[in-house]
Amino acid sequence: MADHTLLSPWAQAGRNGLENGSNTHHIPSSSWGIRDLATRGYSAAKRRSGFIQRAALDWSSHLGSRSEARYEARRSLHAGNLPDVSREQRDLLGELHETGVAVRAMQMPLAVLESAERFIEILGSRPTHEPCAKTTSRELAWDPTVFTWGLSEDLLKLAECHIGLPPRYLGVEVKREMANPAAGHSHDAVRRWHLDHEDRRIFKVIVYLSDVDGTSAPFGYIDLPTSAAVLKGLSHPYRAARLDEAVRAKVPASEQSQVHGPRLTAIYVDTGQVLHRVFPAQGSERYSVTYAYCGKKPFLTYPQLMLPPAALRELRDELSPRQWEALRGNRISAARGRR
Ligand SMILES: [Fe+2]
Repeated sequence: MADHTLLSPWAQAGRNGLENGSNTHHIPSSSWGIRDLATRGYSAAKRRSGFIQRAALDWSSHLGSRSEARYEARRSLHAGNLPDVSREQRDLLGELHETGVAVRAMQMPLAVLESAERFIEILGSRPTHEPCAKTTSRELAWDPTVFTWGLSEDLLKLAECHIGLPPRYLGVEVKREMANPAAGHSHDAVRRWHLDHEDRRIFKVIVYLSDVDGTSAPFGYIDLPTSAAVLKGLSHPYRAARLDEAVRAKVPASEQSQVHGPRLTAIYVDTGQVLHRVFPAQGSERYSVTYAYCGKKPFLTYPQLMLPPAALRELRDELSPRQWEALRGNRISAARGRR
Protein backbone atom coordinates (compact mmCIF):
# COMPACT_ATOMS: atom_id res chain seq x y z
CA MET A 1 0.00 0.00 0.00
CA ALA A 2 1.43 3.37 -1.00
CA ASP A 3 2.15 5.63 1.95
CA HIS A 4 1.68 9.27 1.01
CA THR A 5 3.38 10.81 3.99
CA LEU A 6 3.75 14.56 4.32
CA LEU A 7 6.60 15.43 6.63
CA SER A 8 6.98 19.08 7.51
CA PRO A 9 7.80 20.94 10.68
CA TRP A 10 5.22 23.70 10.47
CA ALA A 11 2.41 22.04 12.41
CA GLN A 12 3.76 22.75 15.88
CA ALA A 13 3.62 26.51 15.31
CA GLY A 14 -0.13 26.34 14.80
CA ARG A 15 -0.50 24.01 17.78
CA ASN A 16 1.38 26.38 20.06
CA GLY A 17 -1.16 29.07 19.33
CA LEU A 18 -4.03 26.88 20.51
CA GLU A 19 -3.10 26.26 24.09
CA ASN A 20 -5.54 28.86 25.37
CA GLY A 21 -8.69 27.67 23.57
CA SER A 22 -11.85 28.40 25.57
CA ASN A 23 -15.67 28.39 25.34
CA THR A 24 -16.10 24.65 25.58
CA HIS A 25 -19.74 23.77 25.08
CA HIS A 26 -21.11 20.92 27.14
CA ILE A 27 -23.97 19.06 25.51
CA PRO A 28 -26.20 16.74 27.54
CA SER A 29 -25.22 13.32 26.23
CA SER A 30 -28.79 11.95 26.50
CA SER A 31 -30.01 14.28 23.77
CA TRP A 32 -27.43 13.06 21.29
CA GLY A 33 -28.63 9.50 20.82
CA ILE A 34 -31.93 10.49 19.21
CA ARG A 35 -30.46 13.33 17.19
CA ASP A 36 -27.59 11.16 15.92
CA LEU A 37 -30.00 8.45 14.82
CA ALA A 38 -32.18 10.95 12.98
CA THR A 39 -29.21 12.56 11.25
CA ARG A 40 -27.79 9.16 10.34
CA GLY A 41 -31.00 7.95 8.77
CA TYR A 42 -31.44 11.21 6.91
CA SER A 43 -27.86 11.14 5.59
CA ALA A 44 -28.24 7.57 4.36
CA ALA A 45 -31.47 8.49 2.56
CA LYS A 46 -29.84 11.55 1.00
CA ARG A 47 -26.87 9.49 -0.16
CA ARG A 48 -29.21 6.98 -1.81
CA SER A 49 -31.09 9.82 -3.50
CA GLY A 50 -27.86 11.29 -4.92
CA PHE A 51 -26.74 7.86 -6.04
CA ILE A 52 -30.04 7.25 -7.83
CA GLN A 53 -29.93 10.61 -9.62
CA ARG A 54 -26.34 10.17 -10.72
CA ALA A 55 -26.83 6.53 -11.67
CA ALA A 56 -30.04 7.29 -13.62
CA LEU A 57 -28.08 9.61 -15.87
CA ASP A 58 -25.43 6.97 -16.33
CA TRP A 59 -27.77 4.04 -16.98
CA SER A 60 -29.80 5.82 -19.61
CA SER A 61 -27.23 6.52 -22.30
CA HIS A 62 -29.45 9.01 -24.18
CA LEU A 63 -30.42 11.03 -21.12
CA GLY A 64 -26.93 10.69 -19.69
CA SER A 65 -25.09 11.85 -22.77
CA ARG A 66 -27.39 14.88 -23.20
CA SER A 67 -26.96 15.86 -19.59
CA GLU A 68 -23.21 15.35 -19.79
CA ALA A 69 -23.04 17.44 -22.97
CA ARG A 70 -24.93 20.31 -21.32
CA TYR A 71 -22.65 20.17 -18.30
CA GLU A 72 -19.52 20.23 -20.46
CA ALA A 73 -20.98 23.03 -22.58
CA ARG A 74 -21.44 25.12 -19.43
CA ARG A 75 -17.83 24.40 -18.46
CA SER A 76 -16.60 25.42 -21.92
CA LEU A 77 -18.57 28.66 -21.78
CA HIS A 78 -17.10 29.47 -18.37
CA ALA A 79 -13.51 28.56 -19.29
CA GLY A 80 -12.66 32.14 -20.23
CA ASN A 81 -13.98 33.48 -16.91
CA LEU A 82 -11.96 31.35 -14.53
CA PRO A 83 -10.08 33.36 -11.88
CA ASP A 84 -6.34 33.97 -11.98
CA VAL A 85 -4.35 31.76 -9.66
CA SER A 86 -0.82 31.80 -8.28
CA ARG A 87 1.90 29.44 -9.51
CA GLU A 88 1.49 27.29 -6.38
CA GLN A 89 -2.24 27.08 -6.93
CA ARG A 90 -1.70 26.21 -10.60
CA ASP A 91 0.65 23.38 -9.57
CA LEU A 92 -1.92 22.11 -7.08
CA LEU A 93 -4.70 22.22 -9.69
CA GLY A 94 -2.45 20.46 -12.20
CA GLU A 95 -1.83 17.65 -9.71
CA LEU A 96 -5.54 17.43 -8.99
CA HIS A 97 -6.23 17.21 -12.73
CA GLU A 98 -3.63 14.48 -13.25
CA THR A 99 -4.13 12.29 -10.20
CA GLY A 100 -7.36 13.52 -8.60
CA VAL A 101 -5.53 14.30 -5.34
CA ALA A 102 -3.01 16.88 -4.09
CA VAL A 103 -1.54 16.93 -0.58
CA ARG A 104 -0.15 20.09 0.95
CA ALA A 105 0.59 21.69 4.32
CA MET A 106 -2.36 23.92 5.18
CA GLN A 107 -1.77 27.49 6.29
CA MET A 108 -4.93 27.94 8.32
CA PRO A 109 -5.56 31.27 10.09
CA LEU A 110 -5.14 31.04 13.85
CA ALA A 111 -8.74 32.11 14.55
CA VAL A 112 -10.00 29.25 12.36
CA LEU A 113 -7.70 26.79 14.12
CA GLU A 114 -8.86 27.96 17.51
CA SER A 115 -12.47 27.57 16.49
CA ALA A 116 -11.79 24.10 15.04
CA GLU A 117 -10.03 23.16 18.26
CA ARG A 118 -13.14 24.03 20.26
CA PHE A 119 -15.24 21.77 18.02
CA ILE A 120 -12.69 19.02 18.60
CA GLU A 121 -13.12 19.45 22.35
CA ILE A 122 -16.88 19.10 21.95
CA LEU A 123 -16.63 16.00 19.77
CA GLY A 124 -13.92 14.50 21.97
CA SER A 125 -15.93 14.95 25.17
CA ARG A 126 -19.01 13.21 23.77
CA PRO A 127 -19.35 9.63 25.06
CA THR A 128 -20.34 7.44 22.13
CA HIS A 129 -19.88 4.01 20.62
CA GLU A 130 -20.39 5.39 17.12
CA PRO A 131 -17.57 4.93 14.60
CA CYS A 132 -17.63 8.64 13.73
CA ALA A 133 -18.89 11.81 15.41
CA LYS A 134 -19.55 14.96 13.39
CA THR A 135 -20.56 18.54 13.98
CA THR A 136 -24.15 19.48 13.30
CA SER A 137 -25.49 22.53 11.50
CA ARG A 138 -26.61 24.01 14.82
CA GLU A 139 -23.17 23.53 16.39
CA LEU A 140 -21.44 25.17 13.43
CA ALA A 141 -23.60 28.23 14.06
CA TRP A 142 -22.29 28.61 17.63
CA ASP A 143 -19.08 29.90 16.08
CA PRO A 144 -19.21 30.26 12.28
CA THR A 145 -15.47 30.97 11.97
CA VAL A 146 -14.66 27.48 10.65
CA PHE A 147 -17.62 27.59 8.26
CA THR A 148 -16.88 31.09 6.97
CA TRP A 149 -13.27 30.27 6.14
CA GLY A 150 -14.62 27.90 3.51
CA LEU A 151 -15.73 31.03 1.65
CA SER A 152 -12.20 32.48 1.57
CA GLU A 153 -11.04 33.77 -1.78
CA ASP A 154 -8.31 31.16 -2.23
CA LEU A 155 -10.60 28.19 -1.57
CA LEU A 156 -13.35 29.56 -3.84
CA LYS A 157 -10.79 30.17 -6.59
CA LEU A 158 -9.42 26.65 -6.35
CA ALA A 159 -12.94 25.22 -6.31
CA GLU A 160 -13.98 27.24 -9.36
CA CYS A 161 -10.88 26.30 -11.33
CA HIS A 162 -11.20 22.61 -10.56
CA ILE A 163 -14.94 22.40 -11.16
CA GLY A 164 -14.73 24.74 -14.15
CA LEU A 165 -17.96 26.48 -13.13
CA PRO A 166 -18.99 29.07 -10.53
CA PRO A 167 -18.76 27.06 -7.31
CA ARG A 168 -21.42 26.30 -4.77
CA TYR A 169 -20.11 26.01 -1.24
CA LEU A 170 -21.69 22.90 0.28
CA GLY A 171 -20.34 23.62 3.75
CA VAL A 172 -18.06 22.10 6.32
CA GLU A 173 -17.91 19.24 8.79
CA VAL A 174 -15.57 18.64 11.72
CA LYS A 175 -15.17 14.91 12.32
CA ARG A 176 -13.84 12.51 14.91
CA GLU A 177 -13.05 9.06 13.51
CA MET A 178 -13.02 6.51 16.31
CA ALA A 179 -11.75 2.98 16.78
CA ASN A 180 -15.31 1.63 16.99
CA PRO A 181 -16.76 -0.91 14.55
CA ALA A 182 -18.92 0.45 11.72
CA ALA A 183 -20.75 -2.76 10.79
CA GLY A 184 -24.48 -2.07 10.57
CA HIS A 185 -23.88 1.67 10.67
CA SER A 186 -24.16 4.03 7.69
CA HIS A 187 -20.51 4.94 8.28
CA ASP A 188 -19.62 1.46 7.05
CA ALA A 189 -20.07 2.80 3.50
CA VAL A 190 -17.46 5.49 4.19
CA ARG A 191 -14.96 2.83 5.26
CA ARG A 192 -15.47 0.97 1.96
CA TRP A 193 -14.13 2.15 -1.40
CA HIS A 194 -16.74 4.48 -2.84
CA LEU A 195 -17.45 7.67 -4.78
CA ASP A 196 -19.36 10.70 -3.50
CA HIS A 197 -22.50 11.76 -5.35
CA GLU A 198 -22.95 15.48 -4.73
CA ASP A 199 -22.12 16.31 -8.37
CA ARG A 200 -20.07 15.25 -11.39
CA ARG A 201 -17.09 17.30 -10.27
CA ILE A 202 -16.52 17.82 -6.56
CA PHE A 203 -13.80 19.76 -4.78
CA LYS A 204 -13.13 18.74 -1.19
CA VAL A 205 -10.44 19.88 1.18
CA ILE A 206 -9.81 17.55 4.10
CA VAL A 207 -7.56 19.04 6.77
CA TYR A 208 -6.21 16.72 9.43
CA LEU A 209 -6.56 18.26 12.88
CA SER A 210 -4.49 15.53 14.51
CA ASP A 211 -1.38 13.64 13.43
CA VAL A 212 -2.39 10.74 11.22
CA ASP A 213 -0.54 7.49 10.51
CA GLY A 214 -1.68 4.08 9.34
CA THR A 215 -3.43 3.34 12.63
CA SER A 216 -5.38 6.58 13.00
CA ALA A 217 -8.02 6.41 10.26
CA PRO A 218 -6.03 7.74 7.30
CA PHE A 219 -7.80 8.89 4.14
CA GLY A 220 -7.27 6.36 1.36
CA TYR A 221 -7.61 6.83 -2.39
CA ILE A 222 -7.04 5.25 -5.79
CA ASP A 223 -5.51 7.76 -8.21
CA LEU A 224 -7.67 9.17 -11.01
CA PRO A 225 -6.40 7.04 -13.95
CA THR A 226 -6.74 3.84 -11.91
CA SER A 227 -10.16 4.89 -10.57
CA ALA A 228 -11.32 5.59 -14.13
CA ALA A 229 -10.09 2.17 -15.27
CA VAL A 230 -11.98 0.45 -12.43
CA LEU A 231 -15.20 2.38 -13.21
CA LYS A 232 -14.96 1.61 -16.93
CA GLY A 233 -15.19 -2.10 -16.22
CA LEU A 234 -18.42 -1.84 -14.21
CA SER A 235 -21.97 -1.88 -15.56
CA HIS A 236 -23.36 0.09 -12.60
CA PRO A 237 -20.30 2.03 -11.55
CA TYR A 238 -21.69 4.06 -8.67
CA ARG A 239 -23.02 1.29 -6.43
CA ALA A 240 -20.77 1.30 -3.37
CA ALA A 241 -20.74 -2.46 -2.75
CA ARG A 242 -19.63 -3.15 -6.32
CA LEU A 243 -16.99 -0.46 -6.18
CA ASP A 244 -15.51 -1.90 -3.02
CA GLU A 245 -15.52 -5.40 -4.51
CA ALA A 246 -13.99 -4.15 -7.75
CA VAL A 247 -11.17 -2.30 -6.02
CA ARG A 248 -10.35 -5.27 -3.80
CA ALA A 249 -10.35 -7.57 -6.85
CA LYS A 250 -8.58 -5.37 -9.38
CA VAL A 251 -6.35 -2.83 -7.66
CA PRO A 252 -3.17 -4.15 -6.06
CA ALA A 253 -2.33 -2.89 -2.58
CA SER A 254 0.64 -1.00 -4.02
CA GLU A 255 -1.80 1.26 -5.91
CA GLN A 256 -4.07 1.90 -2.92
CA SER A 257 -2.71 5.06 -1.34
CA GLN A 258 -3.09 6.37 2.19
CA VAL A 259 -2.40 9.94 3.27
CA HIS A 260 -0.36 10.10 6.44
CA GLY A 261 0.89 13.35 7.88
CA PRO A 262 1.10 15.71 10.81
CA ARG A 263 -1.75 17.85 12.00
CA LEU A 264 -2.70 20.42 9.32
CA THR A 265 -1.95 18.16 6.42
CA ALA A 266 -4.48 19.11 3.74
CA ILE A 267 -5.87 16.75 1.10
CA TYR A 268 -7.41 18.38 -1.97
CA VAL A 269 -9.47 15.75 -3.74
CA ASP A 270 -12.28 15.22 -6.23
CA THR A 271 -14.25 12.59 -4.33
CA GLY A 272 -16.75 12.30 -7.19
CA GLN A 273 -14.10 10.89 -9.51
CA VAL A 274 -11.47 9.36 -7.24
CA LEU A 275 -12.32 6.14 -5.42
CA HIS A 276 -11.67 6.73 -1.76
CA ARG A 277 -12.37 5.50 1.75
CA VAL A 278 -11.51 6.07 5.39
CA PHE A 279 -9.41 3.29 6.83
CA PRO A 280 -10.65 2.22 10.28
CA ALA A 281 -8.89 3.73 13.27
CA GLN A 282 -6.90 1.01 15.02
CA GLY A 283 -4.89 3.01 17.50
CA SER A 284 -5.44 6.73 17.90
CA GLU A 285 -8.49 8.67 16.77
CA ARG A 286 -8.42 11.05 13.83
CA TYR A 287 -9.80 14.58 13.92
CA SER A 288 -10.33 16.45 10.68
CA VAL A 289 -12.35 19.16 8.99
CA THR A 290 -13.76 18.80 5.47
CA TYR A 291 -14.75 21.66 3.18
CA ALA A 292 -16.96 20.76 0.20
CA TYR A 293 -17.81 22.45 -3.12
CA CYS A 294 -19.48 21.55 -6.41
CA GLY A 295 -21.36 23.24 -9.25
CA LYS A 296 -24.65 25.10 -8.96
CA LYS A 297 -26.87 22.09 -9.67
CA PRO A 298 -25.80 19.34 -7.26
CA PHE A 299 -27.42 15.93 -7.20
CA LEU A 300 -27.55 16.18 -3.41
CA THR A 301 -26.45 18.33 -0.51
CA TYR A 302 -26.04 17.59 3.20
CA PRO A 303 -27.85 20.11 5.42
CA GLN A 304 -25.66 19.29 8.42
CA LEU A 305 -22.70 20.89 6.59
CA MET A 306 -24.52 24.19 6.15
CA LEU A 307 -25.37 26.85 8.72
CA PRO A 308 -29.07 27.21 9.56
CA PRO A 309 -30.82 29.88 7.45
CA ALA A 310 -30.91 32.45 10.27
CA ALA A 311 -27.15 32.12 10.83
CA LEU A 312 -26.51 32.50 7.10
CA ARG A 313 -28.55 35.70 7.06
CA GLU A 314 -26.49 37.06 9.93
CA LEU A 315 -23.34 36.58 7.86
CA ARG A 316 -24.77 38.45 4.88
CA ASP A 317 -23.19 41.84 5.56
CA GLU A 318 -19.71 40.34 6.09
CA LEU A 319 -19.66 38.54 2.77
CA SER A 320 -18.62 39.77 -0.67
CA PRO A 321 -21.02 39.28 -3.61
CA ARG A 322 -18.83 36.40 -4.76
CA GLN A 323 -19.03 34.70 -1.36
CA TRP A 324 -22.77 35.22 -1.14
CA GLU A 325 -23.15 33.83 -4.65
CA ALA A 326 -21.37 30.64 -3.53
CA LEU A 327 -24.14 30.16 -0.95
CA ARG A 328 -26.94 30.57 -3.50
CA GLY A 329 -29.18 27.53 -3.65
CA ASN A 330 -29.28 27.19 0.13
CA ARG A 331 -32.40 27.89 2.15
CA ILE A 332 -31.53 31.41 3.29
CA SER A 333 -34.65 33.56 3.03
CA ALA A 334 -36.72 34.19 6.14
CA ALA A 335 -40.51 33.92 6.08
CA ARG A 336 -40.48 37.69 6.17
CA GLY A 337 -37.78 40.15 5.19
CA ARG A 338 -36.32 38.24 2.26
CA ARG A 339 -32.94 39.51 1.06
FE1 LIG B 1 -16.69 9.88 0.48
